[in-house]
Amino acid sequence: MKQKKLARRVGRIVPFYVMDLLARAKELESSGRSVIHMEVGEPDFVTAQPIIDAGKQALDAGHTGYTPASGIPELRKVIARHYEDRFGIELDPRRVIVTPGSSGALQLIIGVLVDPGEEVLMADPGYPCNKNFVEVFSGVPVPLAVGPETGYQLTADLLERSWSPETSAVLVASPSNPTGTLLSRLEMEKIYELVKSKGGILIVDEIYQELVYSGDSYTALDIGDDIFVINSFSKYFGMTGWRLGWLVAPEPYIDNIDCLAQNIFLSCSAPAQYAALQAFSPSCHQIMEERRLAFRERRDFLLPALTEIGFDIAVKPEGAFYLYANCSKLTDDSFKFCYDLLEAEGVAITPGKDFGSNKPEQHIRFAYTTSIEKMKEAVKRLKRFIG
Ligand SMILES: Cc1ncc(COP(=O)(O)O)c(C=O)c1O
Repeated sequence: MKQKKLARRVGRIVPFYVMDLLARAKELESSGRSVIHMEVGEPDFVTAQPIIDAGKQALDAGHTGYTPASGIPELRKVIARHYEDRFGIELDPRRVIVTPGSSGALQLIIGVLVDPGEEVLMADPGYPCNKNFVEVFSGVPVPLAVGPETGYQLTADLLERSWSPETSAVLVASPSNPTGTLLSRLEMEKIYELVKSKGGILIVDEIYQELVYSGDSYTALDIGDDIFVINSFSKYFGMTGWRLGWLVAPEPYIDNIDCLAQNIFLSCSAPAQYAALQAFSPSCHQIMEERRLAFRERRDFLLPALTEIGFDIAVKPEGAFYLYANCSKLTDDSFKFCYDLLEAEGVAITPGKDFGSNKPEQHIRFAYTTSIEKMKEAVKRLKRFIG
């Protein structure tokens, strides 16, 4: 049957190309082939046991219903205390809004801030859903090409040059997906001042904030209390499937965000919220820190191994679990390279096309979300493939 009607915005929302690649990888695996997965941005560790136990207890205790739209007060308090313990920032728990992943946080923020036709500036390459969230609310995503010279991050200068009368907000991520690079505190401050001087809003995605391996660790909340900050239990806390994140909103927006959350989500999963109360406990902290160090070790293995076989990684990533490699010495079509590699050698990696339109054919993202043993084998296969 033909569709009778489709909103124009849907035509502007592109799928993840890596999902097709993942589907093909699964097909190969079910036919008995060995596939090494370095394509998906998800930790290979399961959720830490104390969190799982707390989730089970929550179910047994009957926490199976709706919760307040902005989250259970206990969790909002625990998250606020985390900012105090970690960064010395006193935060009113009312400013913490618990969301279905940071994806939910991004939707709420764009929903309360962006009117139809208003522009949101963001980095290209960047996290692919960001432009789509803006599209969903009939805003205009404006991807700005960034490269190794600025650590693949936006700068105040670039934003100044790109600002238009329609610009309403800027979205940055530090560390970034797909590059793993950081925005220095100094540049973040300059960006904040620039955005403020233009009357715009700064949104900072800190979903990989606790997965930083060296250098500057700060939160944008320390720079301005009118910045919107996003975070999640998905990555550092290894809870992707529980669908839980949060945002910290400037005080004047709390009620509007709560109202939108009531309407769009009603509430987040109750057992997930009770489980997450454990995420900041000392026993979990120890587990997460061991995992963070394991990720760093993996990065330190993979980065030189890829460079040695012809990939160019111009900026050492200091966070997240990604390497964004220039592959132009090996191919002029990263998309075909990834597909051919998967067919020939069973190594799954993500072509640059998923992250924007800034030289995607020259780039590939490697996610080091698998063991060093498996990555050693992947590098061996890559070498054979390249010849
Ligand atoms: C930069 C960035 N922001 C947001 C998300 C959304 O994650 P979640 O909704 O699981 O918190 C991701 C997921 O990969 C990401 O890489």
